[in-house]
Amino acid sequence: MKKWIRGGTVVTAADTYQADVLVQDGQVIAIGQDLDVQGAEVIDASGCYVLPGGIDPHTHLDMPFGGTVTADDFFTGTRAAAFGGTTSIIDFCLTKKGESLRSAIAAWHEKARGKAVIDYGFHLMIAEANDQVLDELESVVTAEGITSLKVFMAYKNVFQADDETLFKTLIRARELGALVQVHAENGDVIDYLTKKALAEGNTDPIYHALTRPPEAEGEATGRAIALTALADAQLYVVHVSCAAAVQRIAEAREKGWNIYGETCPQYLALDISCLEKPDFEGAKYVWSPPLREQWNQDVLWNALKGGILQTVGSDQCSFNFNGQKELGRGDFTRIPNGGPLIEDRMAIVYSEGVRQGRISLNQFVDVCSTKVAKLFGMFPRKGTIAVGSDADIVIFDPDAKRTISAKTHHMNVDYNPFEGKEVYGEVVSVLSRGSYVVRDRQFVGQPGTGQFVKRNSFTRP
Ligand code: URP
Ligand code: ZN
Ligand code: ZN
Repeated sequence: MKKWIRGGTVVTAADTYQADVLVQDGQVIAIGQDLDVQGAEVIDASGCYVLPGGIDPHTHLDMPFGGTVTADDFFTGTRAAAFGGTTSIIDFCLTKKGESLRSAIAAWHEKARGKAVIDYGFHLMIAEANDQVLDELESVVTAEGITSLKVFMAYKNVFQADDETLFKTLIRARELGALVQVHAENGDVIDYLTKKALAEGNTDPIYHALTRPPEAEGEATGRAIALTALADAQLYVVHVSCAAAVQRIAEAREKGWNIYGETCPQYLALDISCLEKPDFEGAKYVWSPPLREQWNQDVLWNALKGGILQTVGSDQCSFNFNGQKELGRGDFTRIPNGGPLIEDRMAIVYSEGVRQGRISLNQFVDVCSTKVAKLFGMFPRKGTIAVGSDADIVIFDPDAKRTISAKTHHMNVDYNPFEGKEVYGEVVSVLSRGSYVVRDRQFVGQPGTGQFVKRNSFTRP
């Protein structure tokens, strides 16, 4: 049956205009003001924005990490994403040294199968760049549609890869048309500072931040950029948190290099003082990179506005405070790193960004959806509202106010880092390929209806 989204304001990365949108068989089939529609189900969007569904480029669902496993899996995580206006995610498929890429990918497909309620793709972690891995990458990129790779420059003795691995990955990525992503922090320096802090008896959550200084991120970002230039490849720096990293990315882009960057809601709206909350509550705010001094927030917003950073990802990696974050009582290095943000990513960018005049409405759509689709090979199937695009559509009431709380959120986790924060904007209904996932604020999706998206190779947006 056709769906006729009537009376709303269509907002894309390029335009804002009054129009109706007609949906059939999972796609947008018409956009216009005097559509001749018979037999369609009407969705009243008056007073609302009609947005392309958000695309979250950075999630960790059902992921083992820090001696435990993330609290949200592909069902609870994608359900929460939909409530927040996100209709596609790209999750990180972990790999281990010595393991074939194919079996790692198969294991990640198993995690999502029968659970996801919105569409999803995978990025592939590169733990080592041996001949087998470099050979296997061809089919990963061209046949499996996994066109983005991830190298960790931090988490020594866990995920951290050396510069040789990063460089070989960049060279192979250039040959295959894949986008290389880095977690850019100097893991060796952090390892030294961490051991020193513990030896000096400094065990509280705040030392997580103090042992990961901004320049450890700036240095790694600059190094990854230099290696990318040497390899003549393309690089996307995930979760940029501070001016030191933004500056490296800005300089590289000035030179015309193929360098892109993402930031996250926590770096835009929270700061290092959160780690000093009493009763170990600072552990709720342990991310890597860590939260920074507040002045960095303006740098990040300006970088989004000016196109130095292109996207906002959630870095969804949720752990309960009780029983999971608590593993680090008495030793901050044992606090699982990460937080629950998949649901409130777009709310923070809209409310703190658009409503506060820091970015435009169209830039909000761009950084939360369109640019992600373009960088990660999903455009124009996803990331816009256009005839022929997937009908991944969000009906968004821009003037509704709500208070973020763990009592009302849909993530499977016992706290929300934005607890008590008032935000403008409410997701009313969400369509994924034309089918309701959220209807009038109620979840109506079905586990397993989300489809794996084979993505195209990288092209410069
Ligand atoms: O603290 C974080 N960011 N946890 C998730 C893993 C990562 O580094 O992205
Ligand atoms: Zn990371
Ligand atoms: Zn992450």
